[in-house]
Amino acid sequence: MMLEHPLLSKTSGTLDDVEFSVFESLVEKLKASNADQIIGLHQGKTTFTPCPDVRNWKDGEFELAHNTHAPPQGIKSLKEAILKEHINRGRHDFTLEQMMICSGATHGISMATQSVLNPGDQALILSPQWLFARGVFKACDVDVLEAPLFLELCKNPDLDIYGYLKEAINPRIRLIYFNTPNNPTGYSMTRKQLQTLVDFCQDHNIWLIADNAYEYYDYSEDGFIDARDLEGGSEICFSVYSFSKSYIMPGYRVGYVISPQSRAKDMKKRGLFSVYSIATPSQFGAWQALQTPQEKLLVQRNETLSLAKMTEKLLDVPHCGFSGGFYFFLDLSRMGEKGIQEFYNELLTQGISLAPGEAFGAGMGNYARLCFTAVDSDLLKRGISVINDLYQSKI
Ligand SMILES: Cc1ncc(COP(=O)(O)O)c(C=O)c1O
Repeated sequence: MMLEHPLLSKTSGTLDDVEFSVFESLVEKLKASNADQIIGLHQGKTTFTPCPDVRNWKDGEFELAHNTHAPPQGIKSLKEAILKEHINRGRHDFTLEQMMICSGATHGISMATQSVLNPGDQALILSPQWLFARGVFKACDVDVLEAPLFLELCKNPDLDIYGYLKEAINPRIRLIYFNTPNNPTGYSMTRKQLQTLVDFCQDHNIWLIADNAYEYYDYSEDGFIDARDLEGGSEICFSVYSFSKSYIMPGYRVGYVISPQSRAKDMKKRGLFSVYSIATPSQFGAWQALQTPQEKLLVQRNETLSLAKMTEKLLDVPHCGFSGGFYFFLDLSRMGEKGIQEFYNELLTQGISLAPGEAFGAGMGNYARLCFTAVDSDLLKRGISVINDLYQSKI
């Protein structure tokens, strides 16, 4: 009998148990609602104006013409501008060779994973996590385990992180991925907690990926800290940054990775042999974004904090607290499984959406993520009021 297609590889099924984004069906349901106003609080986005302008540039303004391709590690003037940013913030313990411009944090995480893991190795995600993290690791043919450290830290910031991780690992785990300030819990790890994480990885020969997508929106006492800047961090940590949230330009697909010196050359090859290089107009956009006046960035940062404070004040649903990012992670457990389903459905008929917790990791079904920067403050207030009323009616 003829096969319908050539034989498949053993790894062709690695994504079979990974779902597409749940957001697609939510958007369809929102569209179908008869509500007079749609208040989408499910997606991680902001209403701020994008930092760069889409435009061509004159000869001499930028290093390359728009139609020429960029070097695999990124355009020098963009990399220098990023380095300058790090120097301004007192963090510059790396060379330009260690910096790799990538197609958003997503591409950076993927390349870093492939640079250090073998197919079949395990990666541990400190959950709950950014909704595509698991899929990115699975696409690298890596097995994924999750340990809900961020949820535990929300309940008990004094948790013994070293002991917790010791319980969570096994000899096949060779990489830990985490994101702070954390999407979706809003928890930001302290310097001491991050140092414990770095120490643990050093002691157990485990690579670390620090996803720093929300670096500009950290309101914790210690402020944003990159794990690679801590003692022992630079040899084991891939620090991944994104222009998507900092400069409101997710569609440009620009981010960068600062790699351990030992992997810098390999990362350059991974860039070259995956996408060749990031589109020159996108890199120009990122370079432009870095010239954004500090005042605009400060307005974004302050506005985010005031929306977070307003949400915290108005919201009657228990949640994980807030010290950074764009989100509140709501604890819906008092409603029970059936109540939670009805809650989502009734919200949708009223034109309001939340992101269901299970999108952010195993065992998160009792939670929902609310993005408080996704709509303007009047709509947010309206949305929270409906969420509160519905929650009260179901507990
Ligand atoms: C924690 C986290 N990491 C990574 C990403 C993806 O970033 P990028 O658009 O740079 O690929 C997101 C986007 O929402 C995120 O929240």
